[in-house]
Amino acid sequence: LLHDYKHYMMKEIFDQPKALEDMLTGRLTPEGVDLPELAQIWTVEKLKNLRKVDIVASGTSNHAGVIGKKALEQLLDLPVEVSYSSEFIHEHGTLDERNLVILLSQSGETADTLSALREAKKHGCSTLAITNTAGSTLSRKADCTLLTKAGPEFAVASTKAYTSQITALILLAIWMAQRMGSARKEEVSELLQALERLPGDVDSTLIMTHDAIDQFAQLTYDQEHLFLIGRGLDYVLALEGALKLQEVAYIHADAYAAGEMKHGTMALITPGVPVIALATQARVFDKTVSNIKEVKARDAFVVGITTVGDDVLADEVDEVMYIPSTHSLLLPILAAIPLQLLAYYAGTVRGHDVDRPRNLAKSLTVE
Ligand code: M6R
Repeated sequence: LLHDYKHYMMKEIFDQPKALEDMLTGRLTPEGVDLPELAQIWTVEKLKNLRKVDIVASGTSNHAGVIGKKALEQLLDLPVEVSYSSEFIHEHGTLDERNLVILLSQSGETADTLSALREAKKHGCSTLAITNTAGSTLSRKADCTLLTKAGPEFAVASTKAYTSQITALILLAIWMAQRMGSARKEEVSELLQALERLPGDVDSTLIMTHDAIDQFAQLTYDQEHLFLIGRGLDYVLALEGALKLQEVAYIHADAYAAGEMKHGTMALITPGVPVIALATQARVFDKTVSNIKEVKARDAFVVGITTVGDDVLADEVDEVMYIPSTHSLLLPILAAIPLQLLAYYAGTVRGHDVDRPRNLAKSLTVE
């Protein structure tokens, strides 16, 4: 099952081009996105009657949800809120039949997320499970299911499930926008073209970043702290990168919205401390570069991640890594790859069991 890989985590990172292809096959059509599993249940009338979308999930699935929120908000005129399952159970806004609650879970067995589903159903909300596990409790109990088709994920760290979840939410956003008549046509057609290129872009990203990340990970061997900074979608991805490093490499890694460093965290930046600066989002690029200059001025060791074609960042950081250029909503999928690889190599260089990190389980069946 492992083929030539030493660990499931590595295999699953490298599975991603294929996983995403499977996710998209049959769903991306020349006319747009086709999701027959949802069309049966959600009439156009029902969709138009929605007042709000809630995305509820734990851990990495929650981080995928935050990126999905941006996609749904860009394409639909609906408010979208993301909650941790463990919080949603106790605190949520008004819920009724005009709320769509999306429960996102790789395993479909996470106790917190199942409790959140019960809470949503109690209030009469429409419920959608997005899961990688057909036949899971979540899938059986929600009104309908969108499968992520990433294939089984054995390592505790979620990698291919995460990128498939983001893709699922983007497909859902396009599908809903098409049916609700709120599609911004040009934006949608750009996104569809970019989705077609996605598996190939992920493959290129693996090739473009693997060796450099491996080398950088060896340098972090004795570092206790690491910071990830970015703005907008880069910030959301930074949260996921930090979680992976904590989980697999046991490094104290923290993510910050780049513009917030000066409001407190800058005091923690000491000479040599590693900082990963995500600068893939064109809209906020210049401001992110200003923030990178601030951490560089405190002698941090900065690794910048940007898109091919950018010739600015290389002069501002100690090391630069490039990912392919694509639609802004898909960049977190590509930029996730070097962060997953970093967690893997930082974990293995420390001698950790990267597939089964201490104190953690693949499926959390207690609240
Ligand atoms: O199966 P789920 O997606 O519901 O799991 C949720 C979290 O426990 C999970 O994403 C966890 O954060 C990962 N191990 C992180 O890599």
